[in-house]
Amino acid sequence: MNKQIQTLLRPDHPWKDRLHWFDTIDSTNTEAKRMAQKGAPHGTVLLAHRQTGGRGRMGRSFSSPAGMGIYLSVILRPECRAEQLMHLTCATAVAMCDAVETVTGFRPGVKWINDLIADGKKLGGILTELSILPGSDKIDFAVVGIGINCNQTPLDFSGEIRDIAISLQTATQKPVQRCQLAAGMIEALWKMSETLLIGEPEIMEQYKADCITLGQDIYLLRSGQKLPCHALDLDQEGALIVQHPDGSVETVCSGEVSVRRR
Ligand code: BTN
Repeated sequence: MNKQIQTLLRPDHPWKDRLHWFDTIDSTNTEAKRMAQKGAPHGTVLLAHRQTGGRGRMGRSFSSPAGMGIYLSVILRPECRAEQLMHLTCATAVAMCDAVETVTGFRPGVKWINDLIADGKKLGGILTELSILPGSDKIDFAVVGIGINCNQTPLDFSGEIRDIAISLQTATQKPVQRCQLAAGMIEALWKMSETLLIGEPEIMEQYKADCITLGQDIYLLRSGQKLPCHALDLDQEGALIVQHPDGSVETVCSGEVSVRRR
C-alpha cells in the first residue's frame, strides 16, 4: 500500500520518501513519538493496516480494525513556541475535511474539538501530541494522528459504538479507495503545515464554518458531570466560548461536549 500511496502523490512531493507502512502497530502516534525521539524528520508519515492500541483523546481507545480505516500519523517540527500551536487540532480538522471532500465530494462536519462527523455520527478523530525542548518553551516535535472509518458497514462496529459511529462508505454510499484518501490526507497535511503559523485567522474562520457544535445547546462533560450550556463561539485558538443557564460566559480550553437532543 505504501508504494501505491507514493505513486498517487505528486512526483515532487516533499514528504514522498518519508512514508512508513506498518501491517500491525500498537499506535501510529506512539510509534511516531518513538521515531521523533530518535530524530525522524519533519514530514515523516506513518500509516498502519491495523492498530492494536489505537488511542484517542481523554485516554480513550480508537477502534482500528484491519483494512477498514485509515490510521495515519505525521511528525511535524515547526520552529515555534507551544503557545503558537494552540490551533493545531483545529487546523488538522479543516485539512481533513478538505481531504475527504477532495477525494469523495462529501465534506464532513467537526464536533468540537477533534471529531469528524457525518450524519451526526463519528466518522473519525484527531489526536495531537506536542513535545517541548527541555528547558525552553520551543516545540521539539508535534505528532498529529488521524483515524477515519472508511469501509465499515454498520454491523462491523461493535454493539456499543454502532449507534454513534459511521464510515465514509455508509455516509457517501460509495466504497472508499483508501490509498487515494491517504494520499489526499498527506497532501492536505503538507499544505496545513505550510500555512499553520501564518494563516491562523483563515484556518479558524474555516473551522468555525465546519464546526457543528456552534450555536447548539450542549452538555459540557466535566468531572463526571453533564453541565447544560449553549455553545456561543470559538476564540482565536479554538477554545469554546459557552454560556451557562445563569447567563455567565466561560471559555473552555479542553474537555468534551455532547449536543443536547431537543
Ligand atoms: C479521538 O477520537 O479522540 C482521536 C482518535 C485518533 C485516532 C488516530 S488513528 C492514528 C493515530 N494513532 C492513534 O493511536 N491515534 C490516532
